[in-house]
Amino acid sequence: MSAVLLDGRSIARQIREEVKSEVEDLRQTGIKPCLAVLLVGENPASEIYVASKQKACEKVGIESQMLRLPASASEREILRLVSELNSDEKVHGILVQLPLPDHIDELRVIDSIDPRKDVDGFTPENLGRLLLGKPYTVPCTPAGIVELLRHYGLQVEGSNVVIIGRSNIVGKPLAALLVQKAEGYNCTVTICHSKTRDVTWFTKSADIIVTAMGRAGFLKADMVRSGSIIIDVGINRITDVTAPKGYRIVGDADFDDLRDIASHITPVPGGVGPMTVAMLLRNTLKVARSSQWNR
Ligand code: GUN
Repeated sequence: MSAVLLDGRSIARQIREEVKSEVEDLRQTGIKPCLAVLLVGENPASEIYVASKQKACEKVGIESQMLRLPASASEREILRLVSELNSDEKVHGILVQLPLPDHIDELRVIDSIDPRKDVDGFTPENLGRLLLGKPYTVPCTPAGIVELLRHYGLQVEGSNVVIIGRSNIVGKPLAALLVQKAEGYNCTVTICHSKTRDVTWFTKSADIIVTAMGRAGFLKADMVRSGSIIIDVGINRITDVTAPKGYRIVGDADFDDLRDIASHITPVPGGVGPMTVAMLLRNTLKVARSSQWNR
């Protein structure tokens, strides 16, 4: 039996429609939601992500301001810009696209964002709130994964979830989200990473496997049990001379190998990626709404 495809594109479209109508309502009250996006340097993948985030904002009536600094920008310049955005009343949300150039202390920059404008949920305050079970903004990819499972009616309570990858953007916040003692969560979570001795030992007993480590085709059929749910966060570019651009995008899971053993699987592209962008729109709406109370 072939796995059910978890179609992030179509669920994200529904969420965008909901956000669009809520943005219209907010605009009626005189608040024009505005997201400032800061891109430092010219990382080609970041350029593509940022362009798709801006386009998504535009489509739902969220204004977006694109701010660019060269790769040679100093930490002080970046901090100064973030500080200006923090005090700009017209800007409700701030997104600093990661990764930042190597000479920049990423945490210092993230920590400088006003947590009330933190649409990524990456600031220590917002990650701390998530860990304490009182989240404000939740990081977009983890939130998108939970939303995708929910839309397909997949109950996660009590499930064994194995996350491969311990990044601050996906692995760690997703673990904090799923382990919460709250309806619709309550998972038993394991994080595997580059130093895990035997990843297969964990993945074999998982109900849900989330791959988020950036290694093309890492997860194979012999690592999972029949009927598991596979959520693939990986976005890897691999050479393909038959593709028009000379490359194609694949996930961390070997899709063709897994589709006959998994019960559900996300495609790449078209799975988690669009959900991440949809959650960014939701977070931007949330911070814009909250700005009324922060004045
Ligand atoms: N780089 C990769 N994913 C993300 C994300 O969700 N937000 C930001 N700001 N940078 C990223």
